[in-house]
Amino acid sequence: MARSGVVAVIGAGFYGSTTALRLAEYNIFEKVVLTDILEGKAEGLALDMNQSRSIEGFETRVVGGTTSADGAGYEVIAGSDVVVITAGLPRKPGMSRMDLIEVNAKIVRGVAENIAKHAPNAVVIVVSNPLDEMTALTALATGFPKHKVMGQAGMLDTARFTNFVAEELKVPVASVQTLTLGSHGDTMVPVPSRCTVDGKPLADLLPAAKIEELVTRTRNGGAEIVGLLKTGSAYYAPSSAAARMAKAVMEDSGAVMPVCAWVDGEYGISGVYLGVEAKVGKNGIKEVVETQLTDFEKSELLAAAEAVRTKQADVKSL
Ligand code: LAC
Repeated sequence: MARSGVVAVIGAGFYGSTTALRLAEYNIFEKVVLTDILEGKAEGLALDMNQSRSIEGFETRVVGGTTSADGAGYEVIAGSDVVVITAGLPRKPGMSRMDLIEVNAKIVRGVAENIAKHAPNAVVIVVSNPLDEMTALTALATGFPKHKVMGQAGMLDTARFTNFVAEELKVPVASVQTLTLGSHGDTMVPVPSRCTVDGKPLADLLPAAKIEELVTRTRNGGAEIVGLLKTGSAYYAPSSAAARMAKAVMEDSGAVMPVCAWVDGEYGISGVYLGVEAKVGKNGIKEVVETQLTDFEKSELLAAAEAVRTKQADVKSL
């Protein structure tokens, strides 16, 4: 099998390192680059991952590199087709994603500027929190066209919702389809009209109060895990989502995914990064795909857009 392309993952915490391993195990990339500011951490993890290759049966090489805030070490990402930004702090129990905005804005801005310098042709996938704001900041700080910068959130929220529905109904996850749009936070918008089990509307299978309970659990899905872990936040499902997005870019698949994308007229909304469905390919977002929404779902999406618009305006000064 021909492997091609380089994908870089910035930040070798649990989220970044798990994403790098998933990407390497796809065995489609020529190289996966993993960086961290902790001296030797990414190099050590890369060595460990490479030593698993003969057991797991993949040939993609993982290359680790130490970077610093002044930009040293970023040469290692040169030539990357895709860069995933996981850098930044995770939440502690009791914190909202928004509590991270100031500290993570400084980190993400620095990372974004170095990506612009060393990997100017890359598509960038942001996962740092607060997600919608960090995605907007990355577009600003890289100066990249908006379609080349996107955030990972909707696929994760959707996967959580799907898992909860499957467990509630005791059915395989593969039979469940769900969709969430909006923000990766309080204004996450579940789309019940697009939720089905074996093609049957979810609303016919569960009472409205139960669906609402599962939606609330999904909206708090990250916080529930932070509360259990005590230190750090979720990374298995988040890294699955980020890695799938990077794969769709590399394969130019045009797969339709719920992602945080620049919205420019769709749903009557403009000029904001928002969770929507979009076709993902080698230049990033090929096209935002509008789905049929009920009036209520549409009003919730509009409210989410206005909520994140205000916060995204704030990141300019951070
Ligand atoms: C979560 C974090 C990663 O939702 O945003 O788990």
